[in-house]
Amino acid sequence: MRHLVQIALIAGYATACGISPASRLTSTGWGDSVEILPIPPKPKPAPTVLGHTKLADLNPDPKIVEVSLTARAAKIALSPNRMVDMLTYNDQFPGPLLEANVGDRVIVHFKNELDEPTTIHWHGLRISDQMDGNPRIQNPVPAGGTFDYDFVVPEAGSFWYHPHLNTNEQIERGLYGPLIVRGPDEPYYAFERFFVIDDIVLEGNTIPDDFLVNFPEGVHGRYGDIFLVNGTESTAGQSDTVPRGRFERWRLVNTANARTMQLSIKGALFRVIGTDGGLLETPYLTNKLLLPVGRRFDLEVLYDTSGQAVLESTDELETSSKIPLYTINVTDEVDTEPGPIWTVAPFPARTPNKTATLVFDFKTDANGNLVWMVNGKAHNHDPVFTFRQGDTVALTLRNAAPMTPHPFHLHGQFFTVTSGGGGALEPGLKDTVRLLPSGTVEVLAYMDNPGTWMAHCHILEHSELGMMASIRVEP
Ligand code: C2O
Ligand code: CU
Repeated sequence: MRHLVQIALIAGYATACGISPASRLTSTGWGDSVEILPIPPKPKPAPTVLGHTKLADLNPDPKIVEVSLTARAAKIALSPNRMVDMLTYNDQFPGPLLEANVGDRVIVHFKNELDEPTTIHWHGLRISDQMDGNPRIQNPVPAGGTFDYDFVVPEAGSFWYHPHLNTNEQIERGLYGPLIVRGPDEPYYAFERFFVIDDIVLEGNTIPDDFLVNFPEGVHGRYGDIFLVNGTESTAGQSDTVPRGRFERWRLVNTANARTMQLSIKGALFRVIGTDGGLLETPYLTNKLLLPVGRRFDLEVLYDTSGQAVLESTDELETSSKIPLYTINVTDEVDTEPGPIWTVAPFPARTPNKTATLVFDFKTDANGNLVWMVNGKAHNHDPVFTFRQGDTVALTLRNAAPMTPHPFHLHGQFFTVTSGGGGALEPGLKDTVRLLPSGTVEVLAYMDNPGTWMAHCHILEHSELGMMASIRVEP
């Protein structure tokens, strides 16, 4: 009888996804008798995020998340046979999961045990600029120093944290971690996965320290030859086992220095339910996920058939064959828990009251070194624009370079993409968008968070070589 419920649910999902229910039903092999049974209400436990250790909350107040993070060198097993000297948060790679609810005050007691200064940036969070990890606002935390980050998390979504100093090296060496903010009425999934996807250059068991060479790193950014999923080499064959019929929420983030991940899932149904700025009013189907550095996607995954569901990658040029990143073995045992009913409020439409243009360009300096620029200047930190809080800015982003894309990232605000981007327009609030070589993207940027904000390319070699600007939003 449990099977009957599940068939009806899968048929409903298939219809919502535009797949003929008939074909879905016959492929279940459960016959054609469909009958909906009442599903008894159950109290819902907090979602389990598979694959990460959650940071311990030291504060009993339910509205305060108080945690400790220490950056320091540690040896990490990237695979059973490979121990690598890396930089870590709390001796973990990736850093531990920071989880909070909308409206919570988050206090992070940070200690820098690296031998160089650093800061932590909470990528995507619209918090105060004083707590954003911008090394021009907060004094970088010196080697041996401490800093208490203290902010209120305004909205739900999938985010990540990483340093904002010497980023191409500190992030490549392992400093990053996942961050989840939960909303009060979010559609509920009992099981979630956060896939933190990276690529890394290794020579044997060592990360070679030729950072910021002029070519090819300076031009294209540092591409790794080994894919890492949650800190483990893809070749290590990570896997898990789930019952057929289970719905899960997957969160994906690309933490590489430069590579755009091109992801797909075979052996399961999935749809995009969220992006940088949280859940979408209307989820959509796709078969490819183009994930530029820094960007997130949230997916609903339904293991509709037994066998193997595999998260796979190619590079953005699809020059490589598919690389399996993570395998889910789907058993014949059946999970009858339905997927959530989708109710997510729309983001209110806004009309632009200002326009601005950012041009991403390069030159070679007197020594023949490559310099990356925003609006004609490297490290363009006197605000290139000043807006008022509440402004809606029609922002044109133009890539003047023919040889590389630039994943543009704006701190402290969200935007929606209105044209360009090299494909079908993706809905939802973003903080990161990819500009194709010589391409132009138009966005509507919602300047709702006052402060001074970095606006830069998230190819870390490009931003360190100057492709970094600031904008100002006056309260
Ligand atoms: Cu992911 Cu300026 O940051
Ligand atoms: Cu770039």
